Formats: sequence, structure tokens, C-alpha cells
Amino acid sequence: MKPEALRAALLSWYDGHARDLPWRTGPAQGRGGLRSDPYRVWLSEVMLQQTTVPHATPYFLKFTARWPTVSDLAAAPDDEVMAAWAGLGYYARARNLLACARAVANDHGGVFPDTEAALRALPGLGPYTAAAVAAIAFDEATNVVDGNVERVMARLFAVETPLPAAKPELKSLAAALVRDERPGDWAQALMDLGATVCRPKSPLCDRCPLTAACAGLATGAPETYPRKSAKAARPHRHGVAYILTRGEEVALVRRPPKGLLGGMLALPTSDWREARWSDAEALAAAPAAGDWQGAGEVDHVFTHFSLTLRLLRAEGDADDVIWTHRRDLDALPSVFLKAARAGLSNLL
Ligand code: ADE
Repeated sequence: MKPEALRAALLSWYDGHARDLPWRTGPAQGRGGLRSDPYRVWLSEVMLQQTTVPHATPYFLKFTARWPTVSDLAAAPDDEVMAAWAGLGYYARARNLLACARAVANDHGGVFPDTEAALRALPGLGPYTAAAVAAIAFDEATNVVDGNVERVMARLFAVETPLPAAKPELKSLAAALVRDERPGDWAQALMDLGATVCRPKSPLCDRCPLTAACAGLATGAPETYPRKSAKAARPHRHGVAYILTRGEEVALVRRPPKGLLGGMLALPTSDWREARWSDAEALAAAPAAGDWQGAGEVDHVFTHFSLTLRLLRAEGDADDVIWTHRRDLDALPSVFLKAARAGLSNLL
């Protein structure tokens, strides 16, 4: 199939099957020249880099209800934005988000620049996001390549090079299909195809508009693309989380600004290390003297390691902690919310 025929097939599929998402204005045909708000496109793209559409959507709605414009977001206190981000993960992204919003508000009069190159010059806005916002909000013919697009290209062209080495090859295969015609729709059509049809585990090839062109399908095993290098096993670590209560309040701390979960609220914890923590070690590392009781454990998987947290709970007092009512624990990152909920309920 020639590139033009392939493009026509996918764009017409998109006209009929585009997902209805809150940051979208829909395929070009139906929107009568209306463009998507760059603020909403940018915010959605940053959120979607780390999670799926269903998980990101409530966050997107919460953010845009609370901060309807980029200048509103720029004026928000750091802590409020970090708390609203809690549960999305990758907290450095929330900091970059704020840095970028403030640059748009302060240096660009609250108006997003409208080219990929100018977007790229903003602080905290990376190459993927610049390409995506330029294409979706400003219809610039950029090459927007996320994991979905990589998978579609790997299958369409039966690319045998494994990821991550295949990335440049997949990017140039994607670039060869970009045209000035409907670049925003093209980028989103590829993403929607990847998310809903050309799915990672069980692709729905009988619903795909590109089967006639798909070299991966012709091999009989399209789901085996993209090839992947054997991955090093994820290391496992152990820590202790301390649930210190004072009536209905729980002692929280703020993590140091740099590093994993930087700047976020947290339960006090021991170090996270390879060896399990004995009872004596766990007690010695406690943030306050108290009648510490075992309250189970929780597991959590981060990108680069997995973690088991032993939970100890005591009623008591401590200096230098942030006493937080147990009903306000939503501002905690997922790992600590899980630990706090488990620890509080395990003893009840
Ligand atoms: N994933 C990342 N960005 C997306 C978008 N704009 N539409 C659909 N899925 C996406």
C-alpha cells in the first residue's frame, strides 16, 4: 500500500472512530475550523505520558476545573499543584509543568507559542510534548511518536530491531508518513489506533484499517512486535513505613525536593534497601518513641524497582511532622496512600 493510501485509510477510520476525549475538538471534518485549546492539549499530553487515558481523565477534569487557563495554573502555589498531582506519579513532571506554565504566563503573556521550535524552548517541555502540542493545537506537520506510535510502526513494517535500539528507526518510519494535511488528526489517529486496535497484548486486527499494508500481520504473529531486548530484572527493596497517629491525625513528612517522589508528602520511612528490616532495626529507625505495633505490609512497583514496606503503627506525638487528618490523605503519592490505608485499617 502506498503511503497516501495508507494515510487515507487511517484518517477515514479516525473520522468514524476517534475517541471522544475531553481535551479534543474531534476530527477536522466535524469541528468547522475549531482548534483545540493549547493549554488543554499540553496538560493532557503531559499527563498521558505516564498513564492511560482512563486514569488521566479525572485528573485532567480536576485540573481544568480548578485552573481553567495556563495563567491560573501558573499562579497556583506549588503545594496545591503537587497535591492535585498525587496519584499520577513521576512528580518531577508536576514541577516541570509548573515551570512551563509560569514561563508561558510571565514571558509569553499567557499565550502558548505556536510552533514546535518555540514550544521546545519553554522550560520543562520536552521534544515529545512540543511535537504533540504543535500538531494537535496548531496543525504543524510534526512527527509525534509515543509508545503507541512506535508499536504501530514496528508492526506495520515488521521491524526486527528490538527496542530500545529500534527507536530512531521507528521514528523515521513514522516521519515518512507525516504530511501537511491534517497533522493533528494524523497524530491522534495513530495514537487511537495504537490504544484501541493495535493494542500491546491482543491486537484487534479484524478491526484495523491498515491490514492490507501490515507486514507484521503478514508474518502471522503481529503481537510479537515490537521486538524487545531481554530486560534486566527489576530490583526489589525493603523499607519500613511508620504510621504515627494522634487521634484522627496522621504524621506526615515532606520528602526532600530532589529524587524519587521529591517534594511530595509522605509517611515517615526508614531507608529502602535490599535486605528486609528486622523488628529491632525497624524500631530503632522509628521517627518517635512509642508503642509500635506491626500493621502488615504493602507492595508497590516503581519504574526502576519494586518495594515492600513493612508497616508499624503507634499512637503518639512527634516534632517536625505535618499532622494531617486521616480523611485528607489523598494528597499522598499512591505508595504512601496505600500504606496509610492498610496500616490504619489493619489495626482497627
Ligand atoms: N496518548 C497521548 N496523547 C494522546 C492523545 N492526544 N490522544 C490519544 N491518546 C493519547
